[in-house]
Parts: sequence; C-alpha cells; structure tokens
Amino acid sequence: MIFANLDKLPPDPILGVTAAFRADPSPDKIDLGVGVYRDVDGNTPVPAGVSEAERALLAEQTTKTYVGPSGNPEFNERIVELALGPLAAGLRARTATIQTVGGCGALRIGAELIHASRPHATVHVSDPTWANHEPLLGTSGLKLERYPYYDPATRGVAFDRMIDHFRALPSGSIVLLHACCHNPTGADLDAAQWKAVTDVCADRGLVPFVDLAYQGFGDDLESDVFGLRMLAARVPQLLLALSCSKNFGLYRERTGALAIIAENGTVAAAVATHQARTARRMYSMPPDHGAAIVARLLGTAGLRHMWEAELATMVGRMKSLRALLASHLAARRPDVDFSWVTRHRGMFSLTGIDAAAIGVLRSTHHVYVPPDGRINLAGVSDSNVDRVADSIVAVLG
Ligand code: LMR
Repeated sequence: MIFANLDKLPPDPILGVTAAFRADPSPDKIDLGVGVYRDVDGNTPVPAGVSEAERALLAEQTTKTYVGPSGNPEFNERIVELALGPLAAGLRARTATIQTVGGCGALRIGAELIHASRPHATVHVSDPTWANHEPLLGTSGLKLERYPYYDPATRGVAFDRMIDHFRALPSGSIVLLHACCHNPTGADLDAAQWKAVTDVCADRGLVPFVDLAYQGFGDDLESDVFGLRMLAARVPQLLLALSCSKNFGLYRERTGALAIIAENGTVAAAVATHQARTARRMYSMPPDHGAAIVARLLGTAGLRHMWEAELATMVGRMKSLRALLASHLAARRPDVDFSWVTRHRGMFSLTGIDAAAIGVLRSTHHVYVPPDGRINLAGVSDSNVDRVADSIVAVLG
C-alpha cells in the first residue's frame, strides 16, 4: 500500500483554526484566527476597484491560452513599481521578477533559487515569525536559524539584541525581514531601526529577503515600504516576496510575485531563467486571473484611486478596532498596560496568551486564536468587542 506509511498530521496552526471555527455550532463563536480583513458586517469584501477591474477584464478577454512560467509581464512590472516606487526604474535592469502563486509561492521560489545557488546557505528568520515561514523555506533544503526580534516584556522589537545578532552574522547570510505589519507580533521597526538594519546589511554583506505581504495595511502604501526602499537603494542584492492577498483582497486568487534585485544585469538575466525553470518544474505556470486584475487596476488611474481610497478605509478601520479593543481591555483591567494594542500595526498582535489559555478561550468562550496567541484585530467588531475583551481578561488571570 503506497501511502500506508503516512500518519495523519495535526492541523495547520493557522488554517486549522479556521476549520475548527467553522465546525463550532455556537452562534456566539468569534474568529480571531486567519489573517483576513473584515468589514463592519463581518465580510471580507472584494474592493470595488478590484471588482471593476475584473469586470472590464472579463468583458474584453478573448482567450485563456497559456501565459508562461513568469506570468503576466505587465503585472510583474506594476507590482514592483508599487513596492519600490521611484527606485523601480533605476533598478529595472538589475531586477528579475516572476509572478508567483501568492506570496507563499514567492517565498518558496526564492528559497529554491538560494538553495540551487548556495545549498549550504542559512536563512535567518525573526523569533517569532509567521507560522508558515519555516515550513515554506525549510522544505527547500535550506538551513534556518532564528534571530532575536520580539521582547514580550515591552511588546516591542528587541532591537539591541536583533542588531547585535546581525552584526555577528557571517557575510552572505540571508535575513528574512517583514517589511511591515510583522506577523505574528504586530511590532514593526521604526525609521531609525530600518536605517541601522540597512547599514548592517550593507556593511556586513547580509542579503535581505523581504516579505511584503501587507503593503498599505500598516499606515499607507508609502510609509509601509520605507525600510524596503531604503534597503533596495543601498544593498547590491535583495529578494522581495510580494503578496496581493490582503491589500487587493485577492486571497483565493493566489496572486504574488518574487522580485530579485541582483548585483548587475547579467546576473539578473540569469536569475530570470532560473525563476522560470523553477516554476516550470514545480507547477509550470501561475494562475492568471488575479494578476491580470491587478495589472489592469494599477494601470487605470480611476480604478487605482478608487482602490487606494478603499485601502485607506480598511487601515482606518483596523486602527479604530485596535483603539476599541484597547479601551475595553483597559476598562476591565486598569492595572494592566494594554497600550501595545494601539502601538502595533496591521491585523495582528501577539497577546502573550499561553497554550492552556488558548484552549479555554476556545472551549469556554468560543473565541478562536492560533496556538501562538496571535489575534487578528479585524475579527473584532462593535458587536463582539465586549465578549472578546471579557474572554481575554478572563484567561489573563
Ligand atoms: C495568516 O497569517 O493568517 C495569513 O497569512 C494566512 C495564512 O496563509 O496563514
């Protein structure tokens, strides 16, 4: 029996929470798990700018013939421009971009390429990091290590320890950085800290692998890529994993890109051939639909403005939900400092709730969070904030 040796696996730490939530018949259940945005009605909407771009595309599309392993060239160009802004044009000759199966595909192809070129390379990831980073990168065969990142005492970045660690890394080490909206902690680097990280990457020859999954979800489209752009302007080589899941609301369309900035155009041209071959060997080609929508939207001024305004509304809502939850927690426990809830950026904050308490949240309060104690603030609403605050305070002890 060919599969008899495969044991049943435990649920995925994040997607398993969604499955358990769906299976709970309680009418009062609350999902603070998977990172999806929710509007005031609890829906995860398709932004109107995205829907309009999709309608225009469908009205005009005359073929579904193959595109190719590197995907839609217009999408690749525009999504890199969105991330790098004015830097993109100057870096174009040194940049090889491939459309990928979401941001996950970008991380995985990046890891495959690093492994193909330097099989003994180590990728250093933040402690903690997104639950799927290590599986995605490590399955390529690369070695993984963790660098200090989060200080549970301050609920902020343990920056001195992080930068000291970076200073001691051997030249050529790869450092995975979250561009903004750090997942799972919510604690981001500030401008001065990005400058110090850029200096150490440039001075010590560290290779940044930047995961940009939340552009526009922290503060705005420009501020969220401040550090990325500083790095791209300074270092000779950089990998950038881009996702359109959250900011374009395209989650299930699996739309992303991997841009590799190489030291010169000759290397970039070679990298592009390896990107395409890696995709061809793994899944042949990425799905087209989401990328075609994004290319259309970014290339049409009216749709782009519409989408930017909707994105600003989403960010405003997440910030107001942070303020709402912080005030409800503080009202219940004035002795505890909850200011971190509003200091953090993006959808996530790490609560510090331990595994036993997470089980109680689920079984007693029907509140669903992943095993690391991360909460998705977008799951909070005016109608459930009292129950969310009550349940968190109940398990805090
Ligand atoms: C998350 O962190 O919840 C999202 O990025 C969704 C996922 O695939 O884990």
